[in-house]
Amino acid sequence: MQIFKVGGAVRDRLLGKPVTDIDWVVVGATTEEMLAKGYRPVGADFPVFLHPKSGEEYALARTERKSGRGYGGFTFHASPEVTLEEDLIRRDLTINAMAEDDHGNLTDPYHGQRDLDARVLRHVSPAFAEDPLRVLRVARFAARYAELGFTVAPETLELMRQLSESGELEALTAERSWKEISRALMEDQPQVFIQVLRDCGALKVLMPEVDALFGVPQPEAHHPEIDTGVHTLSVLEQAARHQQPLTVRWACLLHDLGKGLTPKEEWPRHIAHEHKGLKLIKALNERFKAPRDCQELALLVGEYHTHGHRALELKASTLLELLQSFDVYRRPQRFEEFIIACEMDARGRKGLEQRSYPQADYLRGAATAARGIAVQPLLEKGFKGPGLGEAIKRERLKALKAYKEAAST
Ligand code: CTP
Repeated sequence: MQIFKVGGAVRDRLLGKPVTDIDWVVVGATTEEMLAKGYRPVGADFPVFLHPKSGEEYALARTERKSGRGYGGFTFHASPEVTLEEDLIRRDLTINAMAEDDHGNLTDPYHGQRDLDARVLRHVSPAFAEDPLRVLRVARFAARYAELGFTVAPETLELMRQLSESGELEALTAERSWKEISRALMEDQPQVFIQVLRDCGALKVLMPEVDALFGVPQPEAHHPEIDTGVHTLSVLEQAARHQQPLTVRWACLLHDLGKGLTPKEEWPRHIAHEHKGLKLIKALNERFKAPRDCQELALLVGEYHTHGHRALELKASTLLELLQSFDVYRRPQRFEEFIIACEMDARGRKGLEQRSYPQADYLRGAATAARGIAVQPLLEKGFKGPGLGEAIKRERLKALKAYKEAAST
């Protein structure tokens, strides 16, 4: 049997990037031989094994034919006769279809190195179409390597378009899609992921609510970039530039969905878009089974981001309602993430990226004021149960009025 390093490990070494996990392909071996050497099988049907010591993945060289829709629809054909070239040709991109033996000799039948040098993401063969998840993978690699100048080859984009139009993307499971989406959002240029999905028609299928924002105008006075889709990409770009967590990035992507529902006659204004967008945010959250913290923040940012921008003008009672809605007393971090998402929204406007956002510290101060009230004196006065709750609320309101007063002088 022969063993080769394959995929990302070879690619990233050639790019001079750190290699995190290594995948191996084994040519000329049977399942029985692997088991006899102590490799542990992964799942029942896949010809993939874990190394007894390193835990790294070793896959038998295989060809793959499609027998049905989605991931469960795969049949794998692995046998000792399958060659390295036959295994590599069924992989997604040429830059991922190189192999290296333990002397560092490269096997590169599909010119991955040439495409690495030319900064091109190109599919290896028509077998690309066997796994529609690859549409998302290519968009993710485009986001990851955008800074190095990589772009998607026109013929690959065309294949991605055909796959998007074929209805295949609908068959992807929420789990597989979310894994790609969440990884892509955490790249340095997540806006490129969304842009590439849009360029190949996949965004319309996966996230029609986001796709609908392109071509929708906003008032130029507040949004010099005008287009809501362009604005959304800029907000996401800002969130990445400021190294924000996934929760914030997801919320940034979804914050303005309601603007896609505004009747044309009302353009460029978007009255009550915050509220109208909630059902769309919910639908996207559920479609991809986003983690609870991402779901919650996206809904809260969708509903309240305009409050964030108007923070300095809000009445004390409205500020209190905002803080209550976030349960800031028990969930301070979530409110902080809301503030940051609002700031990214404000910065995601053409020419205003560097403008300061005093609302952020003002909101932080309001939260501190409301949280700082003393409960003990209320207990000593005999308040309890719902009465205590009301009394605490009154104290918080008093504190916020004082805070507002102090801030305005
Ligand atoms: N692969 C593929 N099609 C997929 C998934 C994986 O062709 N849908 C192949 C590619 O050759 C890829 C390799 O399997 O390089 C390993 O896949 P994976 O570990 O998911 O990705 P990496 O390329 O290692 O990239 P990353 O750095 O994002 O993990």
